[in-house]
Amino acid sequence: MMTDTELIRLAQQAREKAYSPYSGYTVGAALLCADGTIYTGCNVENASYSATCCAERVALFEAVRDGHRAFSAIAVAGGRKGDAEASFFMPCGVCRQVMGEFCGKDFVVLVTDGKEIRRRTLEQLLPEAFEL
Ligand code: THU
Repeated sequence: MMTDTELIRLAQQAREKAYSPYSGYTVGAALLCADGTIYTGCNVENASYSATCCAERVALFEAVRDGHRAFSAIAVAGGRKGDAEASFFMPCGVCRQVMGEFCGKDFVVLVTDGKEIRRRTLEQLLPEAFEL
């Protein structure tokens, strides 16, 4: 059984792998699949800025690549390079939409400021989502 604290800790560890020479922000994510498997991701930036991929999507796409389609939660930790989390780093709109593609309304999103952990549902972060 993975606790919120453990999943956040894995996101903090993944954050150390970030490639972010342009923004100076490092972000890590840890995705918990319904079967208990965990995937991590970090942000990977590019000189052509829009080619950057967020930590959350790296983790989700790797999991889907391996055949996972059911997910329970994702933890996100981010901040200025070299600094501990100073504020809650919320998933961007694009990542919320990608979560919506694969995750139900009760999918849990965990964020931290390094002290407190906040727990949100995807329904709270992406109400009235676009769907086809
Ligand atoms: N970033 C993420 O990794 N996740 C988010 O949800 C928001 C933004 C990254 C992208 C970029 O490398 C840096 O943070 C600043 O936008």
